[in-house]
Amino acid sequence: MPLHCKVTLDNYRESFDCRTGESLLRGMERLGHKGIPVGCRNGGCGVCKVRVTRGEYEVGKMSRDHVSEDEQNQGVVLACRCHPRGDLQLQVLGHLTRIIEKSHSFNKQNANN
Ligand code: FES
Repeated sequence: MPLHCKVTLDNYRESFDCRTGESLLRGMERLGHKGIPVGCRNGGCGVCKVRVTRGEYEVGKMSRDHVSEDEQNQGVVLACRCHPRGDLQLQVLGHLTRIIEKSHSFNKQNANN
């Protein structure tokens, strides 16, 4: 397993490094988007839901209230409980989408001023 994995957000042409043993959420926090949710960090609150579209990963215990078995089979995971085994591509879902969208529109506005 590599020491660092590159994780790319499909919709935003943005990526971050994740270290071995580190959760996706921990790596995502380094993107520096204001408001990245750091809820329970334990797979229980569901605020960090993402869909892995490419790559291998391991997941810990996740609340079935937030990720059904069907969703999990389609790559949906809670970022705080997901550990990449190599480079990954993912889509943010739900609450995270609003945060990243907001951050991108704020950055565009600042770039135009
Ligand atoms: S931070 Fe609560 S489920 Fe991930």
